Amino acid sequence: MDLSAQLDAIETEATAAIAAAASEQDARALHAKYKSELATAMKAMGKLPPGERPAMGQRANKAKDALEKAFEGYLGGLREAAEAADLARVVDVTLPARPAPRGHLHLLTQVRLEAVQIFSELGFVVADGPQIETDWHTFEALAIPRDHPARDMQDTFYLSDEIVLRTHTSPVQVRTMLTQAPPIRIVAPGHVYRRDDDPTHSPMFTQIEGLAVDEGISFADLKGVLIHFVSRFFQKDLTVRLRPSYFPFVEPGAEVDMQCSFCGGSGCRLCKGTGWVEIGGAGVVDPDVFAHCKIDSEKYTGFAFGMGLERMAMLRHGVNDIKFYYEGDVRFLEQF
Ligand code: DAH
Repeated sequence: MDLSAQLDAIETEATAAIAAAASEQDARALHAKYKSELATAMKAMGKLPPGERPAMGQRANKAKDALEKAFEGYLGGLREAAEAADLARVVDVTLPARPAPRGHLHLLTQVRLEAVQIFSELGFVVADGPQIETDWHTFEALAIPRDHPARDMQDTFYLSDEIVLRTHTSPVQVRTMLTQAPPIRIVAPGHVYRRDDDPTHSPMFTQIEGLAVDEGISFADLKGVLIHFVSRFFQKDLTVRLRPSYFPFVEPGAEVDMQCSFCGGSGCRLCKGTGWVEIGGAGVVDPDVFAHCKIDSEKYTGFAFGMGLERMAMLRHGVNDIKFYYEGDVRFLEQF
């Protein structure tokens, strides 16, 4: 076969084979195969008489162009088919969306935010302090010196002689009075730490502290604020009883009892038949504390209180073991 006929044969065969390729992969293989056949045929051109070479060169280029065109044509066909398939895809835009599973705030977070909300409506703002606290802010400035028996209940996680994991939120009172002049109205929610561990006590728990300092603040103001708080929090008209008690940083001091939210005060298992449940401590700020905080106790008076938030949530939601709050068991958490 002369060279020209050979090129004709390659061109015809290549264009037909590529057009009929079963896949892109096949088309690529055929393209490579015929390219190399053309290259082999072209090598033979060197043996032609010089006069015939230009015409044969043109013939070879025509075969090469035809091969490339066939290959490009095949790829273009594939692209068009893919586009057409994409356009033909039917999407049902009326199908309902699949909802993503959603979490929610932890019960204790809800209770903390709610408590803050209620106090903020009475003009209290949130104050904060460190959980790793000095002995001075935690005890000394609150009139609990080193050897005071009142330390016994809270003598717990010391990091050094001077540093302790705060045992109550009361040091935030001190930090606030050292940096702000009266009038002061703050609440300080936060974690506290004690060496306690039973169904109603945990080594880490949450308190909310309150402090109001101004001219003419009285014990009656304290009681009014607490009654308002428990009534709002439990969404029931409940009253509060201030039972005389001793806290070194208040005088007079009291345990805060609220009317039992379950039986309304008639006596039940929760309140052990007394009609009252204890929710915290409170009192009128001791002049000693004012002295430590450089506040003039002749001019100003104040009240303070501290309550356990786990306990408030237990009473409101009937949670009977404090550990449930911290275990992260979704079956418990999703109930609230
Ligand atoms: N800090 C006390 C405790 O954790 C509670 C307390 C009692 C806070 C009396 C007060 C207060 O602000 O006036 O046991």
